[in-house]
Amino acid sequence: MLETRNLTVRFGGHVAVDHVSCAFAAGTLTAIVGPNGAGKTTYFNLISGQIAATEGDVLLNEQSLGGMPASSRTRAGLGRAFQLTNLFPNLSVLENVRLAVQAARGGKHLRGLNLWSIWSDHKALSMRAMEVLEAVAMSEQQDKLVANLPHGDQRKLEVALLMALDPLVFMFDEPTAGMSADEAPVILDLIRQLKRDKSKTILLVEHKMDVVRELADRIIVLHNGQLVADGEPNTVIALPVVQEAYLGIAPKEVAP
Ligand SMILES: Nc1ncnc2c1ncn2[C@@H]1O[C@H](COP(=O)(O)OP(=O)(O)OP(=O)(O)O)[C@@H](O)[C@H]1O
Ligand SMILES: [Mg+2]
Repeated sequence: MLETRNLTVRFGGHVAVDHVSCAFAAGTLTAIVGPNGAGKTTYFNLISGQIAATEGDVLLNEQSLGGMPASSRTRAGLGRAFQLTNLFPNLSVLENVRLAVQAARGGKHLRGLNLWSIWSDHKALSMRAMEVLEAVAMSEQQDKLVANLPHGDQRKLEVALLMALDPLVFMFDEPTAGMSADEAPVILDLIRQLKRDKSKTILLVEHKMDVVRELADRIIVLHNGQLVADGEPNTVIALPVVQEAYLGIAPKEVAP
């Protein structure tokens, strides 16, 4: 269970995230929606520790992550896909995933300088890396240099790395933004796969309402940094604040 309590950040006089208290249960996918500048990405930045909160706390399974740097939060189980910034362009696809698998095992695989154990550890890591590549349907690209992959495959690989890290919480911020019509479904399919694992908590910031409607178990709405709605998708989508922000439907009463 991931929880934020009164999570707040001020940039100068502007409160970008304003006392947001919310809990996200394992086995659920929560969509976070709201107009541009509502504070969605900032909320993620606060949870993952990219930026420090002015006030409030983030808890994972009752443990406070407040004050921890991003790297410790990753180790605690928070996983966030950063668009392409985690990839090593001059390594192969398989090597990239293998590094993520290795990182997930936190160096536990190192059992001293015994050649046999080094070899068998390397083999175990490679096998796990191959499993992950199969899950994202990228086995055939395993030997390609990441720098030479098409953009859509790089984005897919980002999700593969996140899966290899095997976090408790997956945070996706507009995962299909900038993708072509044939690339986007692949990413959405990966998120669908993750959803089947009932031990994972998934947070998804997404502007496309059809995607939200299909994937979300629950929707929360941020507006001017505040949590203004929280509930079952159909109910939340029907709210005027969501209709106005996403569906281009003008408010019924327009001030003269
Ligand atoms: N590092 C920062 N310093 C100052 N202001 C910031 C910073 N990061 C975000 N903001 C401001 O905080 C507000 C929320 O921004 P944020 O990027 O979280 O919105 P968002 O909901 O993700 O929007 P979008 O849908 O466009 O991605 C905006 O007014 C933004 O200008
Ligand atoms: Mg954003």
